[in-house]
Amino acid sequence: MSGAGTRRARRRDRRVYLAGHPVLFVLLAATRRRPVVRIGRTVLVHGGAAYHEVLTRLPLDRTAAGTTGGAAAELTGGGLLFDQDGDDHRAARRTLAADLGARTALRLRPRWQAVLDERLAVLGRGLALDLVPLAAELAGLTAAALTTPAPTAAGPAGAPDPLLLAHAATEAAAATARDHLPGRRRPGGAEAAATAAARLNSLLPDGLDAMLAVAAVNTTVAALPRAAAWCADAGLWAGLTPDNAPGVASELLRLTAPSPVLPRVAAAGATVAGCPIARGDRLVLVARHAAESHRDTPVDPARATQAVFGAGPHACPGAAAARALLAEFLLALAPYRPTVVRARADHRSALPGWAELQVRAGRPAGRGASR
Ligand code: HEM
Repeated sequence: MSGAGTRRARRRDRRVYLAGHPVLFVLLAATRRRPVVRIGRTVLVHGGAAYHEVLTRLPLDRTAAGTTGGAAAELTGGGLLFDQDGDDHRAARRTLAADLGARTALRLRPRWQAVLDERLAVLGRGLALDLVPLAAELAGLTAAALTTPAPTAAGPAGAPDPLLLAHAATEAAAATARDHLPGRRRPGGAEAAATAAARLNSLLPDGLDAMLAVAAVNTTVAALPRAAAWCADAGLWAGLTPDNAPGVASELLRLTAPSPVLPRVAAAGATVAGCPIARGDRLVLVARHAAESHRDTPVDPARATQAVFGAGPHACPGAAAARALLAEFLLALAPYRPTVVRARADHRSALPGWAELQVRAGRPAGRGASR
């Protein structure tokens, strides 16, 4: 993927970073050329090999405040995957990875397709459609299918409403992220985060389920609309087929890196790419640069493609499901050749993304349009 269309797609996609975290984005871009950069007790890790080494070999403090594990523990009562190590974690992960692998995609595909067929029909009537709530519905549906909902007074519960679950998961992550932004803590931030966590836990009382919902929903809600905007701007719809869609989805995830920065804390000293790291140092692992998102053609394609999902024992167990859902989403949109008619970046979300992405069919799809 390269050329004028790609430049247009990159230009629009940059707005999601500049809306929420302009200073961080500029700082990371300015220091990108060195694989590892120390600023006080914070170490920025940009290089693909260094990023991989930190995630696979350096002991990390999985409960430190301001890390993903610390945030997950706050949201869900602690003791969960992000902050677990050792045998417990390996056993829980094995079960989760088996649940989330190719079987999940096969099981969920008919339900994803039913939602897509219903919601995309308005495009065929010449109307605009906001892809953000649609992504939230698909993400909520996926999370609800993988978790055990709270029982109600009326008896065992049905799965929570997908949109309600997606809303609770995005609010919980956004409130926690806002409460941990560098600088002075905002008044009321901790209470807002606790209220949002309580709302999520009322839908999914099992902490592992709540954490899974947060991990699945926030990334998916950020990823799907950004990838669709990229396809529209880069003119990719016409070339999309069921055979190449999984590869295109994977490459769009590399180019957009929906979870662009992984905040971690070192639990032991080490030297990475010539830079000494001490126990307690804050690590900013820049998945976006390890994935070579800034390059149209990566130097190390296999490592770059995996980097958006992390590496090592904590690498994302939902990667296969995320890729399958994105491929399905793009294939369903392709016959309409949608163009973006309105895009508003989200200033509040935990991950860079669109608050609104209205698209309209570029040409009528017609009956029986091939997918
Ligand atoms: C575009 C979508 C997604 C992206 C970019 C993404 C990215 C990531 C990343 C970067 C990590 C941290 C990896 C590390 O520390 O090495 C992670 C962890 C995780 N992800 Fe995803 N993810 C996505 C979708 C999903 C989905 C759909 C699910 C569930 C259905 C999911 C479940 C998880 C879980 C449970 C963890 C924690 C794993 C652990 O601590 O062992 N993710 N994800």
